[in-house]
Amino acid sequence: MKRWHVFITRRLPDDILAPLVEVAEVDVWPDRFPPPYEELRHRTAPCDGLLCMLTDRIDAALMDNAPHLRVISQMAVGYDNIDVAAATARRIPVGHTPGVLTESTADLAFALMLAAARRLLDGVRFIEQGLWQTWEPFGLLGQDVHGKTLGIVGLGRIGAATARRALGFGMRLLYTGPREKPDVAAALGATYVSFDELLAKSDMVSIHCPLTPATYHLFDADAFARMKPGAILVNTARGGIVDHEALLAVIRTGHLGAAGLDVTEPEPLPPDHPLMQCERLILTPHIGSATVETRRRMAQRAIDNLLAGLRGERLPSCVNPEVYADT
Ligand code: DGY
Repeated sequence: MKRWHVFITRRLPDDILAPLVEVAEVDVWPDRFPPPYEELRHRTAPCDGLLCMLTDRIDAALMDNAPHLRVISQMAVGYDNIDVAAATARRIPVGHTPGVLTESTADLAFALMLAAARRLLDGVRFIEQGLWQTWEPFGLLGQDVHGKTLGIVGLGRIGAATARRALGFGMRLLYTGPREKPDVAAALGATYVSFDELLAKSDMVSIHCPLTPATYHLFDADAFARMKPGAILVNTARGGIVDHEALLAVIRTGHLGAAGLDVTEPEPLPPDHPLMQCERLILTPHIGSATVETRRRMAQRAIDNLLAGLRGERLPSCVNPEVYADT
């Protein structure tokens, strides 16, 4: 008789699942699409452990419907889809996967910045549309990336990794966030500035903060108006940090030079959404961490967290360590 019952909301590689299968009854959602909320709630009801994705809404009602639930393990670093306060109130530890996706996500942020600045997508479309007939001295001009000023919003792990890449391009670094990070910043030669100053002085801005009530629509019409004319915005964090209506408006007026978004609100965008057809905007489908190596590391960390929670041990990466107070 296996001791625990677990629900996993997407398929994971067999070899990574193996140690869990030895000790638990494992119910794996077999579809490519996430389980609908009611199905998620129903399947989690008898479980001791839940391994979920950023596409799953994990709320208090779901927790109340699962009286044996002793661990929630998310296969992502961000966890804005989980009501962490509700989990903490029920003393359920919530796991996530920081660290293992840092470099891959920074790679993509930089790729989007280069692609947006150098109009890679316009160039590809130009060829696809049969428009390439000669070399043109002033055709398809983009902007230099090297030597420019990069503003990092949120100098956490991924923000710092993106900044390290920028050093190789001879960029000047500014950063902002709720507090200064003197040690990290000193190693990068990055200067701490207010959000307003960052907007006013950066040629490129890359978003690396979590989505919270404080950062929801941080980039609104007012913020865009304060950006440098022709600046470039990159978002690999969460779509909700950018007000898409406002973004569309400043791209259309040309005040914003270009943007690269790996995340949107909602995901996916409906096919007729104006952002889908917008020039000087590069969209990718939330693939910041999507490399073979990184997704395997994320799955492994999610399993490690899950197993630790089932055994009543401290999670290797816990979002709400308060649950361990006075234990
Ligand atoms: C995360 O982990 O939060 C990313 O958005 C997905 O890799």
